Amino acid sequence: MDTRQPLPALACFLLFSCFLYKAAPTSALSDSEADYIARRQLLTLPENGDLPEGYENTVKTTETFENERLRRAFIALQAWKKTIYSDPLNITRNWFGPNVCSYRGVFCAPALGIPKWTVVAGIDLNHANIVGYIPVEFGLLTDLALLHLNSNRFCGIIPKSLSKLTRMYEFDISNNRFSGPFPRVVTTWKSIRYIDLRFNNFEGCLPPEIFEKDLDALFLNDNQFTCTIPETIGKSTVSAMTFANNKFKGCLPRSIGEMWRLNELIFTNNDLGCCFPSEIGLLGNVTVVDISFNSFTGSLPQSLSSLKKVDILDVSHNKLTGTVLENVCKLPTLSNFTFSHNYFSEESKACVSPGRDDVVLDDTGNCLAGRIKQKLAKECQPVVSKPVDCNKDQYVVLSSSSKPNSRMPKPKSLVQVHPTPKP
Ligand SMILES: *[C@@H]1O[C@H](CO)[C@@H](O)[C@H](O)[C@H]1NC(C)=O
Ligand SMILES: *[C@@H]1O[C@H](CO)[C@@H](O)[C@H](O)[C@H]1NC(C)=O
Ligand SMILES: *[C@@H]1O[C@H](CO)[C@@H](O)[C@H](O)[C@H]1NC(C)=O
Repeated sequence: MDTRQPLPALACFLLFSCFLYKAAPTSALSDSEADYIARRQLLTLPENGDLPEGYENTVKTTETFENERLRRAFIALQAWKKTIYSDPLNITRNWFGPNVCSYRGVFCAPALGIPKWTVVAGIDLNHANIVGYIPVEFGLLTDLALLHLNSNRFCGIIPKSLSKLTRMYEFDISNNRFSGPFPRVVTTWKSIRYIDLRFNNFEGCLPPEIFEKDLDALFLNDNQFTCTIPETIGKSTVSAMTFANNKFKGCLPRSIGEMWRLNELIFTNNDLGCCFPSEIGLLGNVTVVDISFNSFTGSLPQSLSSLKKVDILDVSHNKLTGTVLENVCKLPTLSNFTFSHNYFSEESKACVSPGRDDVVLDDTGNCLAGRIKQKLAKECQPVVSKPVDCNKDQYVVLSSSSKPNSRMPKPKSLVQVHPTPKP
């Protein structure tokens, strides 16, 4: 067999980079090494990561294949194997010869539309701890519906050629060292339902189209995303979504109240601000709301008391002011309400710990008179005396809106992190 060599010098370089990584005593690839690999990988990607039409015809193979699609899969898998420097569990050891369906981690199924053809429909290399990257030739695996690469050490970017994987349904590349912008190619897949990009080094903005896909789950936590969250979020059909541990900034779009399928709302540890949108109260099915470790201002919306299924409510480590309301602390299924490290200056009796036996309440680090472990008066005074008015500045009510509760932010509010405090 004679699959095309990427570019020998660069390939060697990539292997060398991964070698440095392997030799390091920690299991982490340094940021600069990963960036460097990504940049070198870009240089080896023809047409900016896309695959020319009919590319497979330029590759010579001597083996015989059951059908043309298996030959293409063979070219892709051999190209991929070449990028693998370290495979400590020997998962890819039997990746040779024309019978790709027998390769470890590779799953075949009858082709959609041509049932007598067997094709590669899934690849599952979870927890293989492999070091390598995804080559452009991966785009030849056009029947792939499932890709599980969870917990490996793949680095570099997701090549554009993956747009040819039109049957992709479940895409899990979590816990690797992938980098670059959000892999936009996922928004081109018509059948995609499940996207897991957790624990990588993706950065920059989210494409607004991602929330217009018919997804069940979208996991983005523990990356380096920085932008505001697109207003399209309200169109999302997901039941599970995580944004935690990134650097998202700006306001939470009010359209979030339209995500009625959502079970958990997790935004912990970002740079989000503004008033917490009252539309949250429309999410009657959520069980977890965690907006801790952000810079939300103003008072908690009254509408929180509509979250009749909420179990865990964590608003700690923000800049919230005003009163912690009784009807929130008395929510029927609440088990843990943490509102510590804010600027609350009043709390209902029902919110004072120990209150109900079945609810953990934490009010420390606030400005509550007569409670222990509060902020110093000089720290509280400037904030408590000038609370942010959540009805002002930040949003405008669209009177033409069909939904009485659906308020849209003014475009400028997307970049306005903190509304002007009341004089
Ligand atoms: C993988 O293969 C190499 C060489 O064949 C062998 O030395 C090593 O022990 C194998 N590792 C595992 C985890 O099977
Ligand atoms: C909760 O989910 C059900 C379907 O699972 C849906 O019919 C209902 O409208 C949702 N409730 C709210 C308040 O969104
Ligand atoms: C309650 O939630 C807080 C914050 O999420 C957490 O740190 C704490 O351990 C929880 N307490 C219990 C008893 O589960």
